Amino acid sequence: MRILITGASGFLGYHLVKYLEKRKREITAVYRTRPVQYLAAVGESCDLAVPEQTQALLAKWQPTHIVHCAALTSTATCQREPEMALRDNFLATQNLVEAANKLFREKPFLLLVSTDLVFDGEKGDYSETDTPNPIMVYGRTKRAAEQAVELTYEGDWAIVRSALIYGTPTPFGKGSFLQWLLEDIQRGRCRLFADEFRSPIAVTELCWLIVAVLESGKTGYWHAGGAERLSRYEIGVLAAQAFGLPKNNIQVALLAEEKDLPAPRPKDVSMNITRARTHLGFNPRPLMHNLAELVQTYPWS
Ligand SMILES: NC(=O)c1ccc[n+]([C@@H]2O[C@H](COP(=O)([O-])OP(=O)(O)OC[C@H]3O[C@@H](n4cnc5c(N)ncnc54)[C@H](OP(=O)(O)O)[C@@H]3O)[C@@H](O)[C@H]2O)c1
Repeated sequence: MRILITGASGFLGYHLVKYLEKRKREITAVYRTRPVQYLAAVGESCDLAVPEQTQALLAKWQPTHIVHCAALTSTATCQREPEMALRDNFLATQNLVEAANKLFREKPFLLLVSTDLVFDGEKGDYSETDTPNPIMVYGRTKRAAEQAVELTYEGDWAIVRSALIYGTPTPFGKGSFLQWLLEDIQRGRCRLFADEFRSPIAVTELCWLIVAVLESGKTGYWHAGGAERLSRYEIGVLAAQAFGLPKNNIQVALLAEEKDLPAPRPKDVSMNITRARTHLGFNPRPLMHNLAELVQTYPWS
């Protein structure tokens, strides 16, 4: 395997490179603006939204596998800057697909990391056969990226739709939602919705699942979520307990009553992970269990 990982300077990409380094894989770690130091992986800069750069990248590294993590991930920024969202989420993916189609007779296995936010949140417990219906710019541009892969890639592909990801911040300060949550609870300015549901997944468990898909060569859509469906408020209370913060600092609120959000939010995008459990042996642990372990090494005071 020669694995090319995009978004390697981001939260998931960084953790995935480290995870694969431990397994002694040959890795090209692609960033756009922020070079990152790795132990063994080779770093390479590329703006994937520029077709010539993407073609030159693939021609140089000749990957057998591509894991495409790069994206514009802030829902608020995507909502404010829809053209930038289209560029970094859809165009970048389309360029990767077209470059690989054009350059290789033996096409690399292409794995796109997508999101639970391609669903409208009206149903919850989403499985791979449910119909996406994104309600915000981020979800729409990620769905367009999924379709670029599904409908136009000529090699084998997989799309891993991830739930909200948590884990240890990277050494260069890229944290997950957990970091903002802990800071807000500590400062006593934390308001969390009791009627917005997600199934948060540990970044280590998501890396395990991505590698399981790569190694099995199994194609199609995969839903990646944690063991439980939890409201934002419940997630906050569990995080406060694990990190010894006062849970009274968390104010309960309702999404249904919220008027002023930077981007629309689906009510319930909890993920059904039966396919990954059955076909890959995926077995995530409860959030509290993972947090209790994370707290041992988490850079937090
Ligand atoms: N974080 C979550 O909770 C979550 C939940 C569900 C799904 N996901 C999905 O998981 C993936 C990783 O998310 P993340 O939170 O780890 O991302 P992140 O920390 O925001 O990092 C985004 C990465 O994408 C790169 N990038 C953006 N536009 C690019 C372009 N045009 N060309 C090349 N690189 C580009 C950035 O490079 P530079 O910074 O070097 O410019 C950075 O490495 C994304 O596909 C996201 O949609 C994330």
